[in-house]
Amino acid sequence: RSVQVMDSVSKPLETYLTPFGYQIYQYDRVSSTNNLAKEIARKSIKDHVVVIAETQTHGRGRLERTWISPHGGLWFSIILRPKISLKEALRLTFIMSSTVAETIKTTFGLETKVMWPNDILVEDRKICGILTEAITSKDSVEFVVIGVGLNANLDLDSFPENLRETVTTLKHELGYEADLKALVLSLLQTFEEKYKQLLQGRWTSLLKEWKNLASFLGGRVAVTSFDEVSRGEALDVGQDGALLIELDGGGVKRVIVGDVTVEVQL
Ligand code: BTN
Repeated sequence: RSVQVMDSVSKPLETYLTPFGYQIYQYDRVSSTNNLAKEIARKSIKDHVVVIAETQTHGRGRLERTWISPHGGLWFSIILRPKISLKEALRLTFIMSSTVAETIKTTFGLETKVMWPNDILVEDRKICGILTEAITSKDSVEFVVIGVGLNANLDLDSFPENLRETVTTLKHELGYEADLKALVLSLLQTFEEKYKQLLQGRWTSLLKEWKNLASFLGGRVAVTSFDEVSRGEALDVGQDGALLIELDGGGVKRVIVGDVTVEVQL
């Protein structure tokens, strides 16, 4: 069971406007930047606002998981008010994934991959996760909050032992600490370009960009969805964002919610 901890919308430490029109609210410590962004969005008509926090006391991952958020990570959430359907809002996760993967590659020269539905990997370990939440009223999307959790300037030992095999951090890969303020600006700028393309109806080419980073496609995967594990070959990700698997036992399965791990055959 998840307990929602509310932030009173307190004053940020610092606010600034980016040249491409995002208003940044920098906080020290919040419960979760997604929660705070939702609070702000509910109480205003603000758009293109970004909530960044140094630490989160109740960082949330997908499927009600806890997201460990110590100092040194990059934890932020974007408020957007696109005129799109709930189905289309799913696409924002994909364009944010490509954004993070491309930006890490061009900024630091690290090879990156995306994993369905919302992870970014370096050396096959998770470096970033995305949690997109859409708030709807009467079937239309009122606003969307896109939360990004990037394991940036963290040591691996800030993670519990059981995670150290499957996660990585920018600092661990690079051997130095990244400039997070510059990083957030390039992430937002690249995201904004893709977001504009999405609103111009260019989803097919945006999905293609994501697929070019999805090296698990064509390979063997194990997908856990609602506690059920399916094994087979990852065939494709459809226009609707669903993962298609050719099952070992025959037949094709469409998965909408789940976790994928790549299976290595020995
Ligand atoms: C996942 O991989 O399960 C998604 C993780 C998303 C974590 C980020 S950190 C910033 C934002 N605030 C949250 O509470 N979660 C997202």
